[in-house]
Amino acid sequence: MNIQQLKEAARIINAGGLVSFPTETVYGLGANTLNSVAVAKIFQLKERPSFDPLIVHIASLDDLKALTDEPSDAVMQLAEKFWPGPLTLVLPKSKLVPDIVTSGLPTVGIRMPDHELALNLIRMAKCPIAAPSANKFGQLSPVTAEHVRKQLPDVDYILDGGTTTVGIESTIVSVEGNVCTLLRPGKISLNDIEKALPGVFVFNDKKPEKLVAPGLLKSHYSPNKPLYIYDRTNVRLPDSSGLILHGQKELHTNCDKLVYTSKTYNQLEIAANLFSALHRMEDDAMVKQIFIEPVVESGLGIAIMDRIKKAVYKYQER
Ligand code: TXA
Ligand code: MG
Repeated sequence: MNIQQLKEAARIINAGGLVSFPTETVYGLGANTLNSVAVAKIFQLKERPSFDPLIVHIASLDDLKALTDEPSDAVMQLAEKFWPGPLTLVLPKSKLVPDIVTSGLPTVGIRMPDHELALNLIRMAKCPIAAPSANKFGQLSPVTAEHVRKQLPDVDYILDGGTTTVGIESTIVSVEGNVCTLLRPGKISLNDIEKALPGVFVFNDKKPEKLVAPGLLKSHYSPNKPLYIYDRTNVRLPDSSGLILHGQKELHTNCDKLVYTSKTYNQLEIAANLFSALHRMEDDAMVKQIFIEPVVESGLGIAIMDRIKKAVYKYQER
């Protein structure tokens, strides 16, 4: 780990600038949570609508206590079991959290990322860091520093930590009393929470009626060229097609570029390589449209298919 780079990144955060940093899921675009002007720059650079709240990244459970309104024992147990890790908890916010961070909501999304660079940056800057994914609003999520540079060339600093390991964004769970509601699927499932803390929570995996998490928008994570679900009955693909598959198999179709997210249909590998595969297709001038194989919606496949469906939504005929 390069201490000089971390120091520089922390200095920029403290000076009200924006730093992109790696987490285990995707790269974040961070600012000092407590500096509203710095946070406003995130919305500006990302071209993100102001109604879409940010996740606050912390490095200690004391920060959780400071940012929320008296977390219950159950919430503390949940945090201790799953943090650091890819789980964001949406909890009643304390007065410390500026409204711009939560888009005026009375709740705040908080997580402790499982990545040494991210944790050290938060510790060195000595403030919780508000950060959405470091992409333009609605576009592909970044899993390398290069992906960040492509979409956000004007960011003040990028801490390069190589390729992220999980590859898709954290699970988001809102906790009200002892009721957990899934707002965004990710590597950690409600089932994992039930198994780790049996009987502590009741679970609601129906989509909330109001749009509490704009990340639940039907369209999101889209590449800048048409993307379609690869339908096997569709034997002949149009010229200049890219094809993304999730397990090696005999191919009965034509395509100009073929990318595997995994050779063996390993869900962890598929998740880790999903956005990189889409970025590679986006970056290849020969590819005019992209086809992607669907995955089975079980286990991590639920979160993977959630991202794929949102990515193709924009290009679906409706
Ligand atoms: O893995 C991740 O979660 C990454 C890394 C950087 O931590 N971050 C990320 O942030 O994916 P973003 O902004 O791309 O997605 C966060 C989602 C948004 O859709 C937002 O609507 C939701 O979290 N969110 C944040 N605070 C919320 C709140 N108080 N209530 C409901 N949803 C909230
Ligand atoms: Mg995002």
